[in-house]
Amino acid sequence: MITAASAYLNFSHAGNDHPVLRDISFQVERQSSCAIIGPSGCGKTSLLFLLAGLLQPDNGSITITGQPRSGTILQHFGLFPWKTVHENIGLGLVLKGMGKKLIREKVEQLLIEMGLSGFGSHYPGQLSGGMQQRVAMARALAVEPQILFMDEPLSSLDALTRERLQNLIQEIRQKKKITIVLVTHSIEEAVFLGCRIIVLSGRPGRVLRIVDNPEVGSADYRQSDSFFHRCVELREILKGEDYGQET
Ligand SMILES: Nc1ncnc2c1ncn2[C@@H]1O[C@H](COP(=O)(O)OP(=O)(O)O)[C@@H](O)[C@H]1O
Ligand SMILES: [Mg+2]
Repeated sequence: MITAASAYLNFSHAGNDHPVLRDISFQVERQSSCAIIGPSGCGKTSLLFLLAGLLQPDNGSITITGQPRSGTILQHFGLFPWKTVHENIGLGLVLKGMGKKLIREKVEQLLIEMGLSGFGSHYPGQLSGGMQQRVAMARALAVEPQILFMDEPLSSLDALTRERLQNLIQEIRQKKKITIVLVTHSIEEAVFLGCRIIVLSGRPGRVLRIVDNPEVGSADYRQSDSFFHRCVELREILKGEDYGQET
């Protein structure tokens, strides 16, 4: 569904070109998931923007077959603090010109699906981080995307909330048959959520390895030996890549 073919990206600064991404090639299959992992500053967000069509490569190409609707969830939830949860979730539908009644029904349904029933009239500031992230996800899902691009969506959450939301993302992908591209700096998150894991080198980012991870979505994967071994494998690949904490 998505193909990156020898894509290069530079940023110009003070008249000089700085390479950000070099020779990036991989594919993401329809209705599968792809996790992009790599050290801080290696170009993960830039790569996500390339895939989402928000940036153009300087060389090579990014191709998406068909013209799928997509949704994007950025690192900080990007909710409007002065709008209620209901209004935040319905935003994309209002922009599409959908009628009020339909929007209300759709948002109510999403509130239930995302475990936010009864919080529609709250403001984002009255919710926990995990709940705010659910709102951001509901807003992205409202427009029924075929592809969901997520940039470190869970990085600011505590470990347990994070695992719960990882489970939710996994469930939603399977139920709604969505293709997911997720940027993360967490090895466990990449292994839990990525059918395919693209491992990037330190800056400028190039593909160190493409790891297929077919067990994703199997029952109790997080507790299994293969999960553990896949995490060890990724840790080995990333060793020596200046793998600092994301900021
Ligand atoms: N608008 C920009 N102008 C110049 N350099 C940028 C810009 N955005 C990102 N960069 C640089 O590109 C590199 C990759 O950034 P980014 O894609 O945000 O990395 P990551 O998400 O992996 O932390 C970094 O070195 C960053 O400083
Ligand atoms: Mg980033």
